[in-house]
Amino acid sequence: MTMLNTNIPEAVRAVASNGTQLRYALMELAAQQKDTIALGRGDPDLDTPQHIILAAQEAIRRNQTAPTPVAGMPELRSAIAEKLRRENGLSVSAENVIVTTGGQEGLFLIMQALLDPGDEVLVPDPRYTSYDEAIETAGGKIVMIPTDHDDAFNLPVESIEQAITPKTKALLIVTPSNPTGGIITEERARAIAEIAIKHNLIVISDEIYEKFLYDGWKHFSIGSIPGMEERTITLNGFSKTYAMTGFRVGFVAAAVDFIQAMTKVKTFTTGPAATISQHAGLAALNGPQEPINEFLRIYTERRQLMMTGLRDMGLDFSDPRGGFFLWTISSSTGINATELSYLMLKEGRVLIFPGTGFGDKWDGYLRITLLQSMDELQEALRRMQPVIERYRVKA
Ligand SMILES: Cc1ncc(COP(=O)(O)O)c(C=O)c1O
Repeated sequence: MTMLNTNIPEAVRAVASNGTQLRYALMELAAQQKDTIALGRGDPDLDTPQHIILAAQEAIRRNQTAPTPVAGMPELRSAIAEKLRRENGLSVSAENVIVTTGGQEGLFLIMQALLDPGDEVLVPDPRYTSYDEAIETAGGKIVMIPTDHDDAFNLPVESIEQAITPKTKALLIVTPSNPTGGIITEERARAIAEIAIKHNLIVISDEIYEKFLYDGWKHFSIGSIPGMEERTITLNGFSKTYAMTGFRVGFVAAAVDFIQAMTKVKTFTTGPAATISQHAGLAALNGPQEPINEFLRIYTERRQLMMTGLRDMGLDFSDPRGGFFLWTISSSTGINATELSYLMLKEGRVLIFPGTGFGDKWDGYLRITLLQSMDELQEALRRMQPVIERYRVKA
């Protein structure tokens, strides 16, 4: 890909090989300029449903502010277990659940409780690079499983088996995927489960985008497959499903002894998740679920708008089956994605993350979120068009 040398500041260039830092460097630059449309972060822009807000207010009003047990409020753990049984087909009860301070902390605790130094974790590439930090902080080593455009970024079963060594402890899967929008189909999940059982692997299943699938695709939880109950660690949370990112509440379901190990780490790090947020989470699970359908309707409409607008600009993308993102092919412009993101930000005032924010080799992709109103998305498309035209490398 061509590097145009458009004065990308060193601050951005220097961190270009570390996905998380690169994303944060771009967000910092965006914060310094006025009137930027942010299509960067994956946090829902929609309002948290009113009954959840009221439950949080009510918890404060009643002075329900004392800390809960470290693994979470018993009623919330039960409600989560009930949801996982009913919707995901997992055989779990409250003891199999820990409430975390967001899925992010869930990831950290999982890796701390799971890994010994030198253990290898198989992770799909491209990926949400917080996985890297969580694994490496625990002394583990990431082994990348490349996923491919022509396979709709599903997880290739043969590559998993080839990557297994005596040090492989776990396989991390994410469905739908951030950043690709790919999903792991039920058929693929069953094939992956067979491998996990054959090689005695733990499977960490990140299902945080489970409610947002398009075009009739259905979510499937690998932990529901017989033989997977004891070896699956399911990660989920309230941030995406109920537009509750700032409440910082997520959860993990796994074997009871593993939940106890996670609880131990949580005890001497963060302690229990915020009580008020846990009350909000309980209201989310026990209250009406219609807001999720409405969120899905809104994202579906935005997705259509963006798919059409990007195609009109000559940009294609992978088959986006779920989640909040279009994993857009920018290589057709001839411009390196890190540089194109910088140009989009500086000249188009649109914040978009380059593929390199999700793995070194993805300099031919941009990750574009659907997390702005239709008007803002339309305006973003209007701003992006001239930037592409100005810099497109003519063949
Ligand atoms: C794939 C994936 N997993 C986990 C998380 C963690 O989300 P939170 O900490 O808000 O629950 C995110 C957030 O963007 C994500 O994209």
